[in-house]
Amino acid sequence: MTTVTKTDRPGTHPLLRRKPIAQISEEAGGGSDGGKLVRSLGLWHLTMISVGATLGTGIFVILGTAIPDAGPAVWISFIIAGIAALLSAVSYAELASLVPVSGSSYSYTYATLGEGMAWVCGWCLVLEYGVSVAAVSSGAGEYINEAISTFGLELPHAITAAPGADGGIVDLPAMLLVVLAMLLLVRGVKESALVNTVMVVIKIVILIFFCVVAFSAFSAGNFQPLFPMGAAGMSAAASRVFFSYIGFDAASTAGEEAKNPQRDLPRAILLSMVIVTSLYVLVAIAAVGAREWTWFQGSEAALVEIVRESIQQPWVAVVFSIGAIIAIASVVLTVLYGQTRILLTMSRDGLVPKVFGKLSAKTGAPVQGTLILGIAIAVTAAVIPLGELADATSIGTLFAFALVNIAVIYLRRKQPEIKRQYRVPFFPVTPLLGAAMCVYLMLNLGASTWIVFGLWMLVGVGLYYAYGRRHSRVAALSDEEYRALTAVPLQTPARSTADQRL
Ligand code: ALA
Repeated sequence: MTTVTKTDRPGTHPLLRRKPIAQISEEAGGGSDGGKLVRSLGLWHLTMISVGATLGTGIFVILGTAIPDAGPAVWISFIIAGIAALLSAVSYAELASLVPVSGSSYSYTYATLGEGMAWVCGWCLVLEYGVSVAAVSSGAGEYINEAISTFGLELPHAITAAPGADGGIVDLPAMLLVVLAMLLLVRGVKESALVNTVMVVIKIVILIFFCVVAFSAFSAGNFQPLFPMGAAGMSAAASRVFFSYIGFDAASTAGEEAKNPQRDLPRAILLSMVIVTSLYVLVAIAAVGAREWTWFQGSEAALVEIVRESIQQPWVAVVFSIGAIIAIASVVLTVLYGQTRILLTMSRDGLVPKVFGKLSAKTGAPVQGTLILGIAIAVTAAVIPLGELADATSIGTLFAFALVNIAVIYLRRKQPEIKRQYRVPFFPVTPLLGAAMCVYLMLNLGASTWIVFGLWMLVGVGLYYAYGRRHSRVAALSDEEYRALTAVPLQTPARSTADQRL
């Protein structure tokens, strides 16, 4: 394909400068130091990365806290949030097949809306990935205590909660989980993907086990009335449980380590959505069927309590709690992985320090970046109470998803001729609806979440002007160089797809 783009205006303001898809693809696979990522992930591993990043605290903890908001209609809240996630997932699938790199929505935004929005998107991804690792890992202490309480033991609150949370001093379980994930990731992506796959299988089995137990105590009467908190309660819960869908996009951070990214990334994203949505709705129906909705008030580990009460065998609760800890561990592992790859891509562009893009010659992993990030997140998880951050994570993610939907529309309009291995169905209705759903769910989140989000953005803008803007490779180009960059052919082949080679 030799068409030349007509849409770039030479001399564009640095904030609006875009990075052509051809250039993004050209740089794929390389570190900031000339090192190379290793392509070792197939469809199965990619799907497990997305499921691994998705199934976790949301279903094990937040489901219980959303039921008092929605009543028995909580399963409908899961469907609404699932539709919002699915609409964005198909947009992710199209862009991941078109721009199969490791920067996920950050790269898609750079190619479409320019550097300023790409930075904003990347900064939102730090909320979605980095901050959520810390938030998710803080759920582990609860389940460790559930497991050992069977033997009459309990970890003191002082070492299972961050300061400020009822006498907590340091959240050691959360810290340990992040450190373990970090150590595994520096060994390489293949080893991490293997461990993740085992953990994902365990957590799916545990959730199916929960459904079997809960359905045996099923009472249809628990669904009456269906909407005790009204439609408003149900939609507020939908915004809340949206958190449990965050992570389906994780496969799109593995674009440069996938064997056949253009074919497998969209499949992995959609497949993982089908798996998690079916499980979530099933688990929500099973939970509400097993207990009256008012029973869930104040219960933080509702699923394990239902299992414990139903099968009065101590080992069952132990096994279930260990399963929940493994579920959380695999979210921590895959989401931390995603964050390291997004930062790697941003470092290639000069927007974050080069150290995040240095690849180990031995393992092909960004070892130094992973260590810096892992330690920073471990410390954050240990000493900052993160309960409230689940909603802040959701708002940042929703914003990034909205940008992805817009990017699909933009690229279809501006560059319709590029061959897409996967196309969003019912274009442009699907991405328009996807973006609208994201905005709707954002608006449903509370004022305090918006304030946290606003402050987060202010810090992000400050960091951009203090570092990113000064080191950006695209912003540093002269008008002439930028013109040359944007005048390259629209599509260069993804390196792994032989049939598209020129
Ligand atoms: N979706 C992830 C979880 O529920 C963030 O833990």
